[in-house]
Formats: sequence, C-alpha cells, structure tokens
Amino acid sequence: MNLQIRKAFDEVKEEILIVGVPEHPENIEGWEAFSEFYHTRLQEWIKNRDVETAYKKIVTLPAFENHSFNRIAFVGLGNRKSLTEDRLRTVFSAVGKELLELKASSIAVWTTSFTNDNLTCEDVAFTAAEGLGLGSYHFEDYKTSSNEQDVTMEAMTLISSADEAELQAAVEVGTANAYAVNEARTLVNMPPNLLTPTELANYAKDLAEKYDFEIEVLGKKEMEEQGMGAILAVNKGSVEEPQLITLKYAGTEQWEDVLGLVGKGITYDTGGYSLKPRDGMVGMKGDMGGAAAVLGAMAMIGETRPAKNVLAVIASTDNMISGEAFKPDDVITSLSGKTIEVLNTDAEGRLVLADAITYAVQSGANYLVDVATLTGGVIVALGNDKTGALTNDEAFFEEFMHAATETGEFVWRLPLTESDQKRIRQSDVADLNNSPGRDGHMIFGGGFVGEFVGNTPWVHLDIAGTSSASAAHDLGPKGATGVMVRTLGTLVERMASTKE
Ligand code: BES
Ligand code: ZN
Ligand code: ZN
Repeated sequence: MNLQIRKAFDEVKEEILIVGVPEHPENIEGWEAFSEFYHTRLQEWIKNRDVETAYKKIVTLPAFENHSFNRIAFVGLGNRKSLTEDRLRTVFSAVGKELLELKASSIAVWTTSFTNDNLTCEDVAFTAAEGLGLGSYHFEDYKTSSNEQDVTMEAMTLISSADEAELQAAVEVGTANAYAVNEARTLVNMPPNLLTPTELANYAKDLAEKYDFEIEVLGKKEMEEQGMGAILAVNKGSVEEPQLITLKYAGTEQWEDVLGLVGKGITYDTGGYSLKPRDGMVGMKGDMGGAAAVLGAMAMIGETRPAKNVLAVIASTDNMISGEAFKPDDVITSLSGKTIEVLNTDAEGRLVLADAITYAVQSGANYLVDVATLTGGVIVALGNDKTGALTNDEAFFEEFMHAATETGEFVWRLPLTESDQKRIRQSDVADLNNSPGRDGHMIFGGGFVGEFVGNTPWVHLDIAGTSSASAAHDLGPKGATGVMVRTLGTLVERMASTKE
C-alpha cells in the first residue's frame, strides 16, 4: 500500500476522507477549518444526528462539486476521553468493512480528529493501518464469478503534522500486523482437500524464503527414524503425508533465549474411530488454527524483525479412519519416550502436540507457547470469544498477558492442579491416557500437553472457541479470526525489548 503524509486537508485527492467525530467535535484542533468543507451546515447536521457521534456509527456524505474528493466518511467516536487504542482499532475495522462495500481504493485519514490526551497521531496511524486491514479482510473464495469485482485499498494518506518518519513506522507495523492476521485467516478458511499438511508445509517454505527463516520439514520416514510415535499414530489412517514443520528466526547473534511457538496443525479432524457426529465434523477444516496462528506470528516477526530468537514447530496431519487407523485402546510411544494409552482418537491434538513440544524442547526452546483448537471444553467454559489458557510459570504468564492486553485479545486462565495431573497419569497400561473424562476437559487437554514441557516455562492456549467466528464481528467477517497472531507477535516484540 502506498502511504503519503500531508500536513493539511485542503487538497484531499483521495476518494474518501475519513474523519472522527466524537461528542463535542468542536474541541478538535482544526475543526473550524475542516467544517468549512460543508460551509455552516456541519454543526447542524451533527445536532440533528444526520452525522452521528455515537461510537462506531459511520455516516458517509457525498462531496460538494468544489471538493477534490468524492465522499467524507464521518466516524462516530462517542466520548472522546474514553477512546483507547482498542476502541480505535475497532472503529477503523468498521471503516474497513465500509470501504469494502464502497469499493474504495484510496483514502485519506484526518488523524488529529481521532486523538485525545492519551492517543497520539502515531497511535492513530498504527490502529488505522491495523484496523482497516483487519476490517477489510475478505476471503477469495472458489465461486466462479465473485472475486472479480473485488477492490483492494491501494493508497492511504494521513493528514497530520506529526513526525513523518514516526507516522510511517507506525503504519508499517499496523499494516504488517493486519497482513499477518489475514494470512492466518486465509489458511484457516481454506478447504481441507486443498490445504493438506504438504500444502501447509509449502506455505511455511514460502514464508521461510520470503523472510529468510531457517526451515526443516520432517515427513513420515524421518518421524519414524526419530520415534515420533504420537503424531504417527494420528496419521496412521491417512493417505496424506504428515509434516513436522520447524522454522527458526534468529533475532540475535547467538542462538540462546529461544521462544518456542508450537501449533496444532490438524488439517481435518474427523475424530478418527471415535468418530465425530456428522454435525460436529463440519468446520473441522479449521483444526489447524493453532498452526495458522504460529505461521501468522512468524509473518509478523518476519516483517518487524525483533531482536529475539524464535523457534516455530507445527505438527500437521489429518485425523482419518481406514483399516490402518489408530484405535481406542492402542498404546503408543511418544518422542519423549512416554507411553500413552489412547482412550479417544478424537483427542488427537494433544498427541501431535506432545511430539511437537518434545521436538521444540530438544531443539533448544527456553520458553514455550502452544496454540491449538484443542477442546470443545473451552467453549463450554468460556464461550466463543475467549481464549483459554494454562501455565506452569507465573512470571512468563504475566509477560504473555501484557502482550494479550496490548492487542486486546481476550485470554482467561484456568487452573491446572495436581489432581488434574493425576487423572492424566492414570492408566493401567501406560504412563498417560489421552482422555481422562469430560468434566473440565479443557484442563485435561492442555494439561496433557504440559506433561511434555519439563521445567520449561510454558503457556498453553486453547483457541477452539476463538479461532473462527460464526458471524461477522468487530474485527472481521464470519469465518477464521486469525486469533493470537497479534498477541504472539507482540509477545516476541516485548520479550525482545525487555531483554536489555
Ligand atoms: N478439534 C477438536 C476440538 C474442537 C472442538 C475444535 C470444537 C474446534 C471446535 C478436538 O480434537 C476434539 O475433538 N476434542 C475433543 C476431546 C475429547 C474427545 C476429550 C472434544 O473437545 O470433544
Ligand atoms: Zn479431535
Ligand atoms: Zn482436533
């Protein structure tokens, strides 16, 4: 996207000028001069609510014949004092949706109109780029006609007197974040016949090439050589090759202080022999949402290049049935050496994560975050708008929560107690069992993954509820949300900047 910065709005050449209208807009610096676009009418329109000041309400008005632009979009901001970065992101996302409808390809944003005592023009620039990018996301589907008329935004102008380099940098970060989230969304939205484990690995290879990451992809043979019995068990019923994808981003000279990001990449979850009911199976193309979050975070890191070492490990296969598929009652041996009694083949995510986590630890990860669409239990516990978390380390979790707060992605921690762990370790024939029961089973799912982290500080994220949305929401359309991409990317950036 082409960015320009101009100091005054008297020469707006873009199609749409975007203006924030809080209650009492007359307090905005420069409002009087701006009002002249509509002679003396604007104040009256606001009073009569033809132009709305209510939060998130957007009114677009056509320009007069002497104007150099086509329209003004007035964006209601509500109480100016209560504006936050989060609220601005939401507002700009709403504008993004509107621009998609209007098929606008160039816009100008009057940044000052969105500021308050706590939000600078740079903050506005950042949230505008991020919010517009998120809100205007649209999945290029497979209909034979519909994508042809799509218009993408090509040019943005900021009208601001703030420092140009800083505005530019803010827009670059915001744009990168939205791009990364949208990439993850597209992976999750893709159908499972097209996004196979091999294709997911190909995507990771392209990412590695683009951002100069080191990459390694292990297939079935290499997994057998290494003894990755857990992911291999899940893959047994499949004709698709399993893939263990590892990306390394070296942010510092020495390969030390490594943050490991581990993602569940089940490209389709039928449940296996513990088969899902027909209605519960639809949508399971999204069971690689954790992998997508990790890849999205890597894209964000590739763009912003923070001084932090990151290791991404993605375990990918589909979970199918056939004469060769694994079964309930099977006992398998994971890469760690721990044996697992399979009680439920639909609890496959924790199995593939077990090997991926072990591989990440063996590859030198000093901190671990795993992300997975792991359990229906998290939806029962927290609903569809909250990501569930577990941890074994208070300080690391706190650091993680700072990142989540910064991005506005809601995360809520559940407890993991010794009695939960006891139930995970309860088996007559093996070290662990993969399905201790349905009571509080988000905890059993994540707790099982925790059996493989050793003493490494670890945060588990269950995004089964948040990874896709059944209807359009504040930051995007129905379908994949790209949840946790920004939080993971931000965590890396924070860990880089708090290092010194
Ligand atoms: N992929 C599912 C979890 C899921 C459910 C993701 C709904 C997205 C939406 C996972 O593999 C699964 O099937 N979990 C089981 C575990 C159970 C068998 C212990 C579940 O949650 O029912
Ligand atoms: Zn499952
Ligand atoms: Zn699954």
